[in-house]
Amino acid sequence: MNPIPADLTEIDLTDPQTFLDLDPIDMWRRFRAERPVHRHRAIGGAPGFWAVTRHADLMSVYRDNKRFTSERGNVLATLLQGHDSAAGKMMAVTDGPRHKAIRKLVLESFSPRVLKHVVGGIHERTRALLDQALELGSFDFATDVADHVPIGTIGDLMDIPQADRPPLVRWNTLTLSRHSSDEAAEDELMARNEILMYFSDLARRRRRKPGEDVISALATGLVDGEPLSEDEIVFNCYSLILGGDESSRMSSIGAVKAFSEFPEQWRALKAGEADVESATEEVLRWTTPAMHFGRRALQDVPVGDQIVEAGDVVTLWNSSANFDEAVYTEPERFDLARESNKHLAFGFGPHFCIGAFLGRAHVGAMLEGLRDRVADVQVAGEPKRLYSNFVHGFSSLPVEFTA
Ligand code: HEM
Repeated sequence: MNPIPADLTEIDLTDPQTFLDLDPIDMWRRFRAERPVHRHRAIGGAPGFWAVTRHADLMSVYRDNKRFTSERGNVLATLLQGHDSAAGKMMAVTDGPRHKAIRKLVLESFSPRVLKHVVGGIHERTRALLDQALELGSFDFATDVADHVPIGTIGDLMDIPQADRPPLVRWNTLTLSRHSSDEAAEDELMARNEILMYFSDLARRRRRKPGEDVISALATGLVDGEPLSEDEIVFNCYSLILGGDESSRMSSIGAVKAFSEFPEQWRALKAGEADVESATEEVLRWTTPAMHFGRRALQDVPVGDQIVEAGDVVTLWNSSANFDEAVYTEPERFDLARESNKHLAFGFGPHFCIGAFLGRAHVGAMLEGLRDRVADVQVAGEPKRLYSNFVHGFSSLPVEFTA
């Protein structure tokens, strides 16, 4: 790790390499203390933007979808381009009544009745994958275990044929985060197109022959008596498969890495000194898979000690807020028994993650599976970090587990 520059304005938050070179805990502590609402310089042809780092300031922006819009993008990449091609169609980048209506349609097919079966499946799949891996002893926790759980869940919710799932996982990873600066940006674009084309075809088939799944709900649901447009259906499927897969995987992988670094917390989990519920929340806080989201200001708004002007891009750094000493005692301690853990890993306000229940179920099932089946957890090789300023996580984690 490189030292944090004395002058924080030198740090480039648009560059994925920054997140590999600098210790995030140290970097964000400095920002919160010295420049909590930081005006980031313009990079290349893109405009400058605000980086908000304190928990209370993030909450105030997240909750305010009147003065801050998601319709001009909600992550740095699209915010700096000034637009998102899915704006006004995909839930995450739509505001107002249309956002509410689409969210309601999706939520209806996430009812407790449906999710009860899904959670049972998550536990079964997790246990089976861990048992298989334990027979090997040494394996890659990311590619052999974690990668296979969430896609099964969201795949079942969307009723995606089994054979189509492995390419979807591959495209998801390519879309959200390259593994190095060398991998071509075109791969990202192509993967995104593959996913959109795939769902366009599947949605057409579901419209003809609907089932009980989320795609059918979107394909046949009505808003003000009208069906959703094809773009709305396809973009929302895209957002569900991306949201449903990548972040949950990253939390579980991060949990195992943390257990290897903090063996006393692993022992606390095994001994029942921390329950799975509080441990799940701490893993989500500690790993914060979605490092940032963002908004564009529609009018002048004070945020912390600054005035954000109409038209400005504002980025909200969950990975900083989740370590804010104003909210957490000893934020730099991985503490599975932490009480009242109000982390922002799932965001906050009107766009609060629609899959939070499922995300928690994935992490909880993994923690329970590890606790009940594994005696010892060791990282046995160099973990491979994703090259991204958005997703925090690892695409490879060689481990040795003792049954
Ligand atoms: C929204 C994180 C799991 C689907 C969000 C947001 C965050 C987030 C921070 C807020 C975005 C914003 O404010 O602009 C996570 C994390 C997860 C996870 C950390 C797992 C650990 C899931 C799952 C699904 C999902 C399992 C799907 C089943 C979505 C969707 C939205 C969203 C559709 C947009 C909601 C809206 O705009 O109303 N997620 N997510 N996420 N998430 Fe998740």
